[in-house]
Amino acid sequence: MRLTLHIWRQKNAQAQGSMVKYEIGDVNPDMSFLEMLDVLNWDLIGKGEEPVAFDHDCREGICGSCSMMINGVAHGPQPATATCQLHMRHFKDGDTIYIEPWRSRAFPVIKDLVVDRSALDRIIQAGGYISVSTGSAPEANAVLVPKRNADLAMDAAACIGCGACVAACPNGSAALFTSAKISHLALLPQGQPEHETRVLRMVAAMDKQGFGNCTMHRECEAVCPKEISTGFIARMNREYLRASFRVGK
Ligand code: SF4
Ligand code: FES
Repeated sequence: MRLTLHIWRQKNAQAQGSMVKYEIGDVNPDMSFLEMLDVLNWDLIGKGEEPVAFDHDCREGICGSCSMMINGVAHGPQPATATCQLHMRHFKDGDTIYIEPWRSRAFPVIKDLVVDRSALDRIIQAGGYISVSTGSAPEANAVLVPKRNADLAMDAAACIGCGACVAACPNGSAALFTSAKISHLALLPQGQPEHETRVLRMVAAMDKQGFGNCTMHRECEAVCPKEISTGFIARMNREYLRASFRVGK
């Protein structure tokens, strides 16, 4: 396959970026999107040019690093697919592809396609944990978890923290991410001791990090590579209201 790529190039956080056009040949349809970018980078390095910087790690859909807009869609055209698991067979010979970093106030561009997503980490730091007593682990079968809750908690825990939900949201909201992180703990007995302080602190951290408010456009759900449901946002809002009343806010 031959492709024309338009890629956002930006030297550093302060520099002004622009789209740069590249022609690339010898793209195998079985390559992943990141492998296609590797081929481009080998070519650029061979010509003594600066390779395109992009985030990646696991390349198997579990770390959430491979964040980029492909033709204006977070993670590209395939539903429920992270960029690293998107294959070139979903494009046609001769296609033109536009590749950009996440665009959101809370995710400043560091270089080319790499953005700073540490704002998501700061939401987790505010409350995305449980307290555990020291000593030997309790007998697992002694803590009963209803099947429905176990399944829902597992669905929420599938969030890989990629930030596509934020990038796709017209408000730049991190509500889907935050609600997934709150819900997977709040649904389990182990998450109960802090469930009120957790939702209050994580929502406050989300607001402080500069994310927008959720007004239910549901773009987040449409691009999420792990199909996290906006139902978790409703759950988070319920938890937040209940906790706010309890502490008299
Ligand atoms: S909710 Fe989905 S889109 Fe948002 S960070 Fe988690 S996995 Fe990525
Ligand atoms: S590189 Fe880890 S999810 Fe894509």
